[in-house]
Amino acid sequence: MQPFENPVMVTRPIFPDLSELNTKLEEIWDSKWLSNNGRQHQKLEESIKKVLKVPNASLFNNGTIALIVAVQSLRLSGEVITTPFTFPATPHVLTWNNIKPIFCDIDPTTLNIDVDKIESMITPLTTGILPVHVFGTPCDVFKIQEIADRYGLKIVYDAAHAFMTEIDGKGIGNFGDITMFSFHPTKLFHTGEGGALVYEDDHFKQRIDLLKNFGIKSEDEVIMPGINGKMNEIQAALGLIVLDLIEEERSKRQVILKRYTERLSEIEGIFFHTLDSNIKNSLQYFVVQVDEKTFGRSRDYVYDELKKYNVFARKYFYPLCSDYACYRQLPSSNPENLPNANSAVKKVLSMPFYGELTVDDVDRICDIIQLIKNRSL
Ligand SMILES: Cc1ncc(COP(=O)(O)O)c(C=O)c1O
Repeated sequence: MQPFENPVMVTRPIFPDLSELNTKLEEIWDSKWLSNNGRQHQKLEESIKKVLKVPNASLFNNGTIALIVAVQSLRLSGEVITTPFTFPATPHVLTWNNIKPIFCDIDPTTLNIDVDKIESMITPLTTGILPVHVFGTPCDVFKIQEIADRYGLKIVYDAAHAFMTEIDGKGIGNFGDITMFSFHPTKLFHTGEGGALVYEDDHFKQRIDLLKNFGIKSEDEVIMPGINGKMNEIQAALGLIVLDLIEEERSKRQVILKRYTERLSEIEGIFFHTLDSNIKNSLQYFVVQVDEKTFGRSRDYVYDELKKYNVFARKYFYPLCSDYACYRQLPSSNPENLPNANSAVKKVLSMPFYGELTVDDVDRICDIIQLIKNRSL
């Protein structure tokens, strides 16, 4: 089998027609307004609320700063329970807020925080829970809310992967106290770099918007130690154009998803999670788990072999956050506390997944995986 002529990466961001961006840039140039809640920003904030089906939103320059502000705005402190199976930003945001991340094990199927293990991680210092909707699969939001209510804890969701995920028609941003979305180019919807916080309680709006603008209340008053989290007009303009292309991108990804699932369910040792029918898929990632015993080869072997064919899958998320030098010494990082996370981290492989991928490309990638398996027989 021949390698792909050009590298096939794990994702390809939506690149709108340049002429459309130029038109928007002209609008911005005419307005003589580049940042601080300009027209594009206001329009995008309104559109984001609609598309995510949430009552309130605040846009940010990236998802990490948005998450830092979410944690600040809820005044979390002490310890916050989170998952080790995530991007570095999740626990780092806690560290930047002087909070100790407490790692809880994950569910081996959904790869999300294991709700049955959260309670055992609660101490008198716990103030909140920071779960991640990993790869767009919703966490057990009802059970998490019940635990939080029982112990008086706040919930901040990291929904970096879950743009447009819905449960029974309800936007994923309507659960917990505050939810963060990332608009990084690796995400389905992007603004070059960017992010948002969404929340039901409109009392948060003032505090969050102050915190993302240095705490400046007026020309005469700075009332809290805020940060610069503002999205600028060029990011917002790009976002408005990308937003118009989302449905088309989603339909293309739906076809790719269908083909992957048809083809890969025929290969013994390759597993993937399928969502229940009441869940709307965010269609951001297509992730498999390679079971070495039944597949005959390890995930690392598959990853290395795919590269030889010019296919660049990614080991999301490897390594576990609990294995980073800065967190390894925490008692909750002990692998005995995290058996499922330590097992999953050796199996997961994020496959190329984007609208411009063709069904033929997917067939070729699946043929390569079949070939790798056949070699091990
Ligand atoms: C789970 C998760 N949380 C947080 C972030 C950080 O978002 P951003 O890159 O927009 O700062 C990312 C990555 O992009 C992520 O994958």
